[in-house]
Amino acid sequence: MKDLTPNRADLDPIEIASIDEIRSLQFERLKWSLKHAYDNVPMVTKRFDDKGVHPDDLKTLADLAKFPFTVKNDLRDNYPFGLLAVPREQIARIHASSGTTGKPTVVGYTKNDIDMWADMVARSLRSSGTRRGDMVHVGYGYGLFTGGLGAHYGAERLGCTVVPVSGGMTERQVTLINDFKPTTIMVTPSYMLNILEQFQSAGIDPRECSLEVGVFGAEPWTDSLRSEVEEAFDMHAVDIYGLSEILGPGVANECVETKDGLHFWEDHFYPEIIDPVTGDVLEDGEKGELVITTLTKEGLPMLRYRTGDLTRLLPGTARSMRRIEKITGRTDDMIILRGVNLFPTQIEEHVLATPTLAPYFQIELTREGRMDAMTILVETGNESASDTERETAANNLRDTIKNTIGVSASIKVGAAGSVERSQGKARRVVDLRPKD
Ligand code: DLL
Repeated sequence: MKDLTPNRADLDPIEIASIDEIRSLQFERLKWSLKHAYDNVPMVTKRFDDKGVHPDDLKTLADLAKFPFTVKNDLRDNYPFGLLAVPREQIARIHASSGTTGKPTVVGYTKNDIDMWADMVARSLRSSGTRRGDMVHVGYGYGLFTGGLGAHYGAERLGCTVVPVSGGMTERQVTLINDFKPTTIMVTPSYMLNILEQFQSAGIDPRECSLEVGVFGAEPWTDSLRSEVEEAFDMHAVDIYGLSEILGPGVANECVETKDGLHFWEDHFYPEIIDPVTGDVLEDGEKGELVITTLTKEGLPMLRYRTGDLTRLLPGTARSMRRIEKITGRTDDMIILRGVNLFPTQIEEHVLATPTLAPYFQIELTREGRMDAMTILVETGNESASDTERETAANNLRDTIKNTIGVSASIKVGAAGSVERSQGKARRVVDLRPKD
């Protein structure tokens, strides 16, 4: 793989500023953001007043802990535009995420917000190893989802040639990669596996293609998947994080030279880690739920937004800003099976570590009598595998899961193509248990 480390001179100065400088910028911006939300969003005014707090109570960054949280339901309760802090006429763009239940969560951006967003995605791309003049294939969905347009504006901002492919039509994605020869691809990691499969079935060697870096996010993925994709394409696989409530893609991004967690763009977003049960703020290094406060957003300021994402804060390495550890899952993705807590990413690691299996899987949860049961649907990597080979693969996977995670799972090894393929964010869990 090529060395794509960016030149230090090309970085935004704040990325490598001193911690003191970053903290003092954050403090000034945080004071503004609290006041902006308090003065303009009725829900925030009421919450602060009910709790007896005022933006002036912020004397240090740590004082943020005195202020109330915001949760996803607040967006739903104020659907569609109730949390906007500027008149609707000043909103330049709307995005929304569908979610699994109820109304979508709607977010709005002013022109300045869109500008800052483009800057953050441009910075993220540069950290990933993309340079001005590179061609970027955007395979994230365009539309209400923030992935496509967010990636698009950022790639343009960096000075790249953008190919706005959007998601789906995998055969065409492969044709365009072969014909246009982009060096960067932005797509969900699970969909990248779909693209890989299409390369293989078209008889094209993915290692020979033009791609040098993939900027993968929008869902949890493991270092095992990183190795799989890096090896298959001879390219760098870098992690990008974000969520619509805060921005979209570009809240945090890995650096290609270290790939050791995602640098959190702290000049625009203030991270905290809390205990998801008590809500207490945890020390850096401790694992918990990521809470984010926007520091500069005009249209939809978010104060102490509970993301549901589980990670920890780590000190900066390739940049001064702190990192978040690769996200292993969300509080609401956690499967509790007979008292054992587990995340789909743990299963992903073991599926990828079983050499006879293809890298696709789906987890089915059912109830047998009063007991919950988990079945993992997988495929053999080799179409001509015999029944015995399939059985051995299933037994190996079942045993490693039992020995490492501590749960008993049934494994179904199906034919090639039997596991549902991702078209964007993969559906890792199918819950067939009766709702009680
Ligand atoms: O998924 C924004 C995005 C688009 C990020 C493209 C990266 C690339 P939402 O649809 O609002 O926004 O979903 C946000 O997706 O709270 C996480 O649970 C999950 N997520 C996003 N990025 C990552 C990542 C976009 N790199 C939710 N690793 C977040 C793990 C991620 N989970």
